[in-house]
Amino acid sequence: MDRLIAEFDRALRAIAGVAHAERPSPAEALPENTLEEESKAHAAALMRVNHVGEICAQALYQGQALTAREPQARHALEKAAREEQDHLAWSAERIRELGGRPSLLNPLWYAGSFAIGAAAGLLGDKWNFAFLAETERQVEEHLAGHLEALPPEDRRTRAVVEAMRSDEAQHRASALQLGAAELPEPVKRAMRLASKVMTTVAYRV
Ligand SMILES: [Fe+2]
Ligand SMILES: [Fe+2]
Repeated sequence: MDRLIAEFDRALRAIAGVAHAERPSPAEALPENTLEEESKAHAAALMRVNHVGEICAQALYQGQALTAREPQARHALEKAAREEQDHLAWSAERIRELGGRPSLLNPLWYAGSFAIGAAAGLLGDKWNFAFLAETERQVEEHLAGHLEALPPEDRRTRAVVEAMRSDEAQHRASALQLGAAELPEPVKRAMRLASKVMTTVAYRV
């Protein structure tokens, strides 16, 4: 029961955008550059997409941790979830600094991802980790794309995205180490499609 209350509290914090970071934001060490209004709006929209991605990550990890069987698996999921919480806080902060706002659809993104995470968890750890490894791989690719798309002079945003990308690579490696299976191609394609929908919508709303 206590665990459920704690998870629910975390869900509300994620959706409300009041996540607390354990590690300082990688942007902190860098000066703020003056950006053109257009670049700023573009960077804010890209960070809104990343923030939604991190909301989904919170929900997925929570869903998976609730249903994961092995204590070792649960432990790894909880550690990654804490790092995702840093990402969530860092990206929310960066959106604010850029004068943007988080997605209005966050409760929806959260609910959908939680259901998917819980379903993956129910399939057993091997598939749970398979799903996780593939998610992290796709997120890593997606963040690499953002590094190309972000204004080169926006060093603070880039630092956040870089740090997130390197954490996601670690998450993927740990999922593989825990015995992730390889997902069937059609599942990977479906995941790509779902994330395409999410990123396109979140860029705007
Ligand atoms: Fe993340
Ligand atoms: Fe991750």
